[in-house]
Amino acid sequence: MKNVYLTGSTGGIGRAIRQRLESAGFHVVPITSRLEDVDSLLREVQDLLKFSPVDILVNCAGFGLFRPHEEISPEIIGRMVAVNLTAPMLLCQMCLRTLKERNGRIINITSLEATRHSRFSAVYTATKSGLRHFSLSLFEEVRKSGVGVTSINPGMTRTGFFDDLDFGPSDDETCSLVPDEVAEEVLRIVESSGVVTDVTIQPQRVGVKRKPY
Ligand SMILES: NC(=O)c1ccc[n+]([C@@H]2O[C@H](COP(=O)([O-])OP(=O)(O)OC[C@H]3O[C@@H](n4cnc5c(N)ncnc54)[C@H](OP(=O)(O)O)[C@@H]3O)[C@@H](O)[C@H]2O)c1
Repeated sequence: MKNVYLTGSTGGIGRAIRQRLESAGFHVVPITSRLEDVDSLLREVQDLLKFSPVDILVNCAGFGLFRPHEEISPEIIGRMVAVNLTAPMLLCQMCLRTLKERNGRIINITSLEATRHSRFSAVYTATKSGLRHFSLSLFEEVRKSGVGVTSINPGMTRTGFFDDLDFGPSDDETCSLVPDEVAEEVLRIVESSGVVTDVTIQPQRVGVKRKPY
């Protein structure tokens, strides 16, 4: 049975990925450290590698805050970079030797924002486009070693991601994805014999709902 290390397994997309992969026969191992705590993350992954060597690493944890740049605190900027970009890069580094031994796969959940430029999204976009380009570059480095790297760039998906934001998915269901659609893509990628390097999934229509202040 293949071992999948998964961050963000408690969130909307991560939970769906976990369920979909488990139902397809994978053994999903949630990474539970707070991702700003590098020492705890290193310890957790070193322990996991001893007993459940990784075949597939899915970096799904992340969060966003969308405001004028001057209104985002230094603490939030640092945390967004730590969780969305630094932690996935460190996890890839920690897992690479094992992934090379097992022809492994890395899947990084980025965002549609990694492919475009939106107002009030500068820091989030920087982290997600950074992770997307990290993925594409890393693949060039590790492809000869049998490792595949994928960036999945989802558009608006109906999850708790928007709970603390002043906007969210519109009531028109065609304007957002559901987590299962992203999870299905993860399964397709891990079961593919080739390497899907970059995939953007978008809802059919565009639309958001502003929340009352
Ligand atoms: N929803 C969307 O429209 C959308 C679109 C494109 C990309 N994405 C990306 O998809 C990924 C999953 O998001 P989601 O929509 O499923 O949102 P979500 O329901 O809010 O889930 C976010 C997940 O990330 C984890 N997380 C956040 N901060 C963390 C930290 N400091 N340390 C460890 N874990 C942390 C959360 O765990 P805790 O609850 O324990 O903090 C949770 O499991 C994110 O990377 C997000 O950027 C989402």
